[in-house]
Amino acid sequence: MEETATRYFDNSWKRTMYCGEVSGRPGESPAVVLNGWVRKRRDLGGLIFLEIWDHTGTVQVVFNPELTPEAHERAGELRSEYVIAVRGRIQSRPEGTVNPSMKTGEWEVAASDLLVLSPAAPIPFEISDGTDKVDENLRLHYRYFDLRRDRMQRNLRIRHEVAMYTRNYLADNGFLEVETPMLTLSTPEGARDYLVPSRVNPGTFYALPQSPQIFKQILMISGFDRYFQIARCFRDEDLRADRQPEFTQVDIEMSYLTEEDIYTLIEGYMKGLFRRVLDVDIPTPFRRMGYWEAMDRFGSDKPDLRIPFEIVELAPFFSDSALAPFRETLAAGGYVRGIPLPGGAALSRKGLSDVEERAKRLGAAALSPLQLKDGVLKGPLVKYLDDDGQKAIVQAAGLRDGDALFILAGADRRFVSEILGTLRLDLAREHGLVKKDRWEFLWVTEFPLFERDAGENRWTAVHHPFTAPKSEDIPLMETDPGEVRSRAYDCVLNGSEVGGGSIRIHDPAVQERVFSCLAFTHDEARARFGFLLDALASGTPPHGGLALGMDRLVMLLCGAGSIRDVMAFPKTQKAQCLMSGAPSVVEETQLEELRIAVLKGGE
Ligand code: AMO
Repeated sequence: MEETATRYFDNSWKRTMYCGEVSGRPGESPAVVLNGWVRKRRDLGGLIFLEIWDHTGTVQVVFNPELTPEAHERAGELRSEYVIAVRGRIQSRPEGTVNPSMKTGEWEVAASDLLVLSPAAPIPFEISDGTDKVDENLRLHYRYFDLRRDRMQRNLRIRHEVAMYTRNYLADNGFLEVETPMLTLSTPEGARDYLVPSRVNPGTFYALPQSPQIFKQILMISGFDRYFQIARCFRDEDLRADRQPEFTQVDIEMSYLTEEDIYTLIEGYMKGLFRRVLDVDIPTPFRRMGYWEAMDRFGSDKPDLRIPFEIVELAPFFSDSALAPFRETLAAGGYVRGIPLPGGAALSRKGLSDVEERAKRLGAAALSPLQLKDGVLKGPLVKYLDDDGQKAIVQAAGLRDGDALFILAGADRRFVSEILGTLRLDLAREHGLVKKDRWEFLWVTEFPLFERDAGENRWTAVHHPFTAPKSEDIPLMETDPGEVRSRAYDCVLNGSEVGGGSIRIHDPAVQERVFSCLAFTHDEARARFGFLLDALASGTPPHGGLALGMDRLVMLLCGAGSIRDVMAFPKTQKAQCLMSGAPSVVEETQLEELRIAVLKGGE
């Protein structure tokens, strides 16, 4: 083989083995060709050692100047991330040089020939899994280098596995994959649309879908019975670690169903997925909790059940107390609640006031601490509680010696709970109280159908306007919209909303009433959603579904800190792709063709 080597890439230089798979048998030294990137080069006592990498792992290659002087000389010119082909023989590493932390660590390849396939510009940062310390913008700018890291390779492989599993699971359960348009009309999911101008219809715009919601409902009306799609969605909203302007949903819809069918389907899906990707057994069925129970106990509609403490109701202990502000708040229909902190009795005066400052930043007027030290309750409120009252609070809050309890009073149920819920999350994280290696799934149900948009002084849909109200609450729609419960459900995992959906309205009259509660006039509703109303009036089975946030799910499966780490080419917080430079200005001629003028001053 060595004799026929060419100096260009042809079949004789194609890899015979992946780098990460190199292994041999004692006493044998089989020939091998490797293709890959130079990860490291070390020159030691005349020998040159290379670590060569491909997506399967790395292997050590050694060049000996006495045995193969030409190859050795060429190897001397290699730098990090050059792409090479190497010919050689696999051999055991000499005793004392075995590297147990490397999959191929017992072996090395004694090189006989080397072909440089492509040099590489100097790398802007070290490509190793310690790279998390590198500025993320630099990583995103040079994404091709960043993606060569083992962790990114692993994350995208897990993502692929999730996609493959999803297709198989849903197809096995009778779901049909259907693609819906990207150039479409606005689908309201609570964010701004990304618009695309139409050249052939000047002055008009498509919207990129915020979700395939209306199309999947129309597919049910069209008789497809069970639909799914791994669908790209676009939302122009404020970005966070778990949000991107374009992201992927596992989108599902089915006909003739109740909530139970969705719960069973998704529980089976998650059980199989976690078994396959992480080899863990997820207990099913998942817990279920109404929206208000979640708010009251955890101050969130996506509670993290890995945290072993929750909000405590304290009204009974203060309704007759001498503490006027609490007593009066309660008399006026308000709330007094607390959040315990295991180990919180160790907090200094400064530690306590830090927690209070945080609550104030969230909008609280004050936050009062109690600390249980050596069996004695301490804190500014103690003087308002008799012995029995103190014991009752300790018992209600489940305080053990060494714990603290932070108490908040306020007029609004949601506001009080949300502040305590935020403290619960922050304090648990800071004090290391979030239980590790737990997968806490939960269905949150019975969301309100509408919420008040105080700014615009009108009702908006909590999920989207196609979500069905509970039948028994339909009469309240016009009289007491805030009390109408919906047939929506969210799938929560470890405090993250990994999916959401609902049973839909299939009666056009109810759909029109919902539009009217949302302050659409009849004509506006017809103009925007006439095609849906017509379709609903054309023979519509009861239907419903949900969408899983695939990026978030993969992020949790990978243990990644951000969804950017499970997407090949994500955008920054400012919705930019630092590698390609999108979004960008376009040629004047393109704008003219589209009959678009750009106003100056927005940059
Ligand atoms: P929803 O708006 O709740 O429902 O979205 C479903 C799931 O998608 C994920 N998600 C996101 N992931 C990353 N970046 C974002 N910007 C982002 N926004 C949402 C979340 C969320 O739970 N049409 C309905 C579904 C239905 O009713 O069937 C919908 O889109 O994990």
